[in-house]
Amino acid sequence: MTADRFDLGGGEPIITLRDVAKSYWREALEIPVLQGIDLEIPQGGYIALMGPSGSGKTTLLNLIAGIDRPTGGSLDVCGYELNDLDNDQLASWRNAHVGFIFQNYNLVPVLNAYENVELPLLLMKLSRRERREKVEQALAMVDLMDRQWNYPRQLSGGQEQRVAIARAVVTDPDLLVADEPTGALDAKNAEDVLELMARLNSDLGKTIVMVTHDPKAAHHARHQIHLEKGVLDRSVEVNR
Ligand SMILES: Nc1ncnc2c1ncn2[C@@H]1O[C@H](COP(=O)(O)OP(=O)(O)OP(=O)(O)O)[C@@H](O)[C@H]1O
Ligand SMILES: [Mg+2]
Repeated sequence: MTADRFDLGGGEPIITLRDVAKSYWREALEIPVLQGIDLEIPQGGYIALMGPSGSGKTTLLNLIAGIDRPTGGSLDVCGYELNDLDNDQLASWRNAHVGFIFQNYNLVPVLNAYENVELPLLLMKLSRRERREKVEQALAMVDLMDRQWNYPRQLSGGQEQRVAIARAVVTDPDLLVADEPTGALDAKNAEDVLELMARLNSDLGKTIVMVTHDPKAAHHARHQIHLEKGVLDRSVEVNR
């Protein structure tokens, strides 16, 4: 890697990966999935992570978000060297710093929209009233205050994803990670979700790393990086 090949704009890096590797083992057989990943993502960046199926996109996203551990190299994310944190510390770090957006929304079916958004706040020391203020603010941001008492099954896919986005930002994390956030949505709902994410980046300064297959979705990011068989291939600046 040369510095300019993956130049993702100025600003202090919020994510620094050095020679990151990940392998899985099937019996004694090592299956390398990621190799030699060097990457710096600046604070306030919006990165689309692209590449063929099986190239390691989800694996890389899960390492950055502290869901999974590397088998080599180091990850400095939101001011912490993740290798230095034990599992409990890593869980607290995730709750404080990372918001998650998934392809299938991952809402809890027995909780209504309000309760789903409130969920990550229950792990924090907040009064009921402080929680309510934050939940209402997040629901207003995704324009779903009128749906707060609805259960996931009473919402459209686009609405479910907006609830999931409210849940991801309610704790005010520095970093949002999204794995194919528009993968299950039709074109109109996908566009709404992408516009919302662009606003979280431009207005609230959230750093976003989004895995996507969709060139239209990737166009909303500021930079695109490509994985090819577990190796970073190239980066492209997006002219929005
Ligand atoms: N828990 C696991 N155990 C063994 N192999 C795994 C595991 N998770 C992922 N892999 C393998 O790692 C490789 C990369 O998987 P990953 O899910 O990161 O790909 P991806 O780029 O996200 O693909 P897709 O676009 O299909 O979601 C694949 O070959 C996959 O089979
Ligand atoms: Mg994937």
